[in-house]
Amino acid sequence: MVDISARQRLQLLAGGAALALTGCGGGDAAIPEPIIMAPEASPPPVPTPPPAPVGSLSEGMLRNTFRNNFSIGTSLTANEINANNLSARIAREQFNSITPEYELKADQLTSSEGEYNFDAADRVVDWALENGMSVRGHALVWHEATPAYFLEGSRNDIRERLEEHVTTVVSHFRGRIGVWDVVNEVTSVDIFNGANGVGPDRRSGWFNAVGNADYIDWAFIAARAADPNALLFLSDYETENAFKMAWTMDIVRRLLARGIPIDGVGQQFHLNLSTDPAAVMTAIDTVENEFAGLINHVTELDVSFYQDPGSCWQSGVNCLPDIGPNAPEDMLATQAQIMRDIFTGLALRSSVESVSVWGVRDGDSWLNFVPAERYNHPLLFDRDGEPKSALLAIIDPAYQI
Ligand code: XIL
Repeated sequence: MVDISARQRLQLLAGGAALALTGCGGGDAAIPEPIIMAPEASPPPVPTPPPAPVGSLSEGMLRNTFRNNFSIGTSLTANEINANNLSARIAREQFNSITPEYELKADQLTSSEGEYNFDAADRVVDWALENGMSVRGHALVWHEATPAYFLEGSRNDIRERLEEHVTTVVSHFRGRIGVWDVVNEVTSVDIFNGANGVGPDRRSGWFNAVGNADYIDWAFIAARAADPNALLFLSDYETENAFKMAWTMDIVRRLLARGIPIDGVGQQFHLNLSTDPAAVMTAIDTVENEFAGLINHVTELDVSFYQDPGSCWQSGVNCLPDIGPNAPEDMLATQAQIMRDIFTGLALRSSVESVSVWGVRDGDSWLNFVPAERYNHPLLFDRDGEPKSALLAIIDPAYQI
């Protein structure tokens, strides 16, 4: 199939219209044409010209670069789903997978027992499908987005409610969402506080209310039952840190040993300018090598311009100063090299089936607000929707960083 850009298509359409015009009314005006009453023919449909491509990147460049390797995704919000939104237009042109950024999280879907509102999530999901994209469902269980009522009552109450939630949500999107992050961020982070004796399971509200990590099993089993065709993932962050990954692996190993239905590991990869791309590849290889057959997804890739101390993340103390709206060239170049190394490595690994960035344009990123409100530049497109060096570096091996 010849891949032509939207701009080229526009030119073709314009040329076709000009030809059609010269073809009509070119006869000799002196000889009147006999009037023949033809049966009323419906006029040929006028093709709607596709919108001009956004920015200077021709349509499909990004997703086509990796079409033989993995799908290319981005998060998007329901607010961004409208014809004038630049991020939605770029998503439609350059990506082929969408993750609703928060609309599928439990606290967005329900705030009181048995009452669900799927409007916002449906809007993102249906828009993605109408535009020929697939959808990653994120996330059925996440301690940061759990409505308070989920954890009330006995262990058995919590289990029934969780199974009901998973069944309701997965059934609602059956046939529309093919991949679910079933549990998100269940690995302990105590390793970062020097307390490594507590084992792999995060002591979250879920763990504390249930008494152990059985809720992970319950969620996977219910998800498989609600949609046997959906791929089921455990996703987590900082798996590029070998200590954290070891604990994530412990959990995955335990699930597999118990016959819990899990298809893959989602690695978020919220990175920064000092991340060693080799560590990212090690994380991918760890899953690929130990669990042959498990799928790797990169789920929330971004490369922050700040490497804050833990105190900034925990309590907003000692966060680095604002870089401002204009990204310094040297930082852009470092980011481009990291992205190039990562995408090159990912493309070589057969277990990687999907790679998503966490937002389209720099201005869309959560990292402009978390852990502190500052300008950040973590994504592939700048605030105006122009491709950054990081993007050019991954789609064009000849591009000089
Ligand atoms: C973030 C979203 O980007 C924010 O808009 C939302 O308010 C909070 O969640 N890890 C995850 C994502 O798994 O769900 C988080 O997304 C970012 C960190």
